[in-house]
Amino acid sequence: VSLKPYNTFGIDVTALQFMEIDDNATLKEVLFSKEHPDSLIIGGGSNILLTKDLERLVIHLNTKGIEVLNKTQNHAQVEIQAGEVWHDFVLWALVHDLGGIENLSLIPGNVGTAPVQNIGAYGVELKDVFVSCQALDLKENKQVSFTKEDCAFGYRDSVFKRNKGRYIITSVILELTTRNHQKNISYGAIASQLKEQGIEHPSINQISDAVISIRQSKLPDPKVLGNGGSFFKNPVVLVEQFTQIQKQYPDIPHYNFGENQIKIPAGWLIEQCGYKGKRYKEVGVHKNQALVLVNYGDAKGEQLWELAQNIQKSVKDKFNVYIEPEVNIY
Ligand code: EPU
Repeated sequence: VSLKPYNTFGIDVTALQFMEIDDNATLKEVLFSKEHPDSLIIGGGSNILLTKDLERLVIHLNTKGIEVLNKTQNHAQVEIQAGEVWHDFVLWALVHDLGGIENLSLIPGNVGTAPVQNIGAYGVELKDVFVSCQALDLKENKQVSFTKEDCAFGYRDSVFKRNKGRYIITSVILELTTRNHQKNISYGAIASQLKEQGIEHPSINQISDAVISIRQSKLPDPKVLGNGGSFFKNPVVLVEQFTQIQKQYPDIPHYNFGENQIKIPAGWLIEQCGYKGKRYKEVGVHKNQALVLVNYGDAKGEQLWELAQNIQKSVKDKFNVYIEPEVNIY
């Protein structure tokens, strides 16, 4: 089976075996049977780079369902099945006037994989609304529940990411606001977008619209140009090291990150190395956002991985900073 429709990079590799699963009972049965110890589960396929044919079972998890568990005056807890498309869920929340995830509009991928890398954008991270999730533990062969603390969320990080392959998230519970929405418009790009439109007190719908238009102007639509969103994480370095770099590059953008650490936009580092907008045969670096690698049509996963490694090396040579891939390489 070709996996091309199941990864947003649009890489054409095959899986030895393929299953589409849309109910949790079947998922549990297949995974706990241990007949396929090495299976790979994909959701939206927006954070994977496939570099070779997969000699194993690939499961496309397609479980659907959104249920309001309880609603108080100010909050609603909602349980979402893993196979729901993240942005469809954001739209559902907006229709029901539920706030908290409007900044996370248009992030590719499914609800079940959102906690793995603690998706985030424009000043909000999944962890800000996260309550708990259900998962299958493939090591212990049992169903487990994770509280927010159990998940140990960090910047694009979680217990699921650190124990790759062990847990499969089957559903997620989020707590959204029903009124008095806590709006976050601190992020520069959102603030200026709203200002341009003359909106001073935006509704959650207006924030979502602003985020959608910013993303559409910067990030390529995977349906048009294959990509996996940010290819690298933004590196975090010690203040001392940052100060050294800043001496040479006074304009370097940066954000404080915890105590004594600074986060640098990898897109800036990559642009400084001259890669922005560059095309190498079937692969390239996006013209509006250097953090995004693209497939111009028939790229092989290896070609993208080779470009990624060249970029890593250039950034290391120029700035002595290591940039770690954000996408999972298979
Ligand atoms: N920049 C450049 N050149 C570029 C790109 C960025 O100089 O080509 C510099 C600019 O100074 C810009 C700054 O980097 O102001 C930040 O850029 P941007 O707002 O586009 O955000 P980012 O740090 O590149 C992160 C996330 C995105 C998320 C945006 C907005 C990571 C790895 N990426 O990107 O997430 O949408 O912030 O919050 O943290 C994703 O994870 O797939 C993703 C797209």
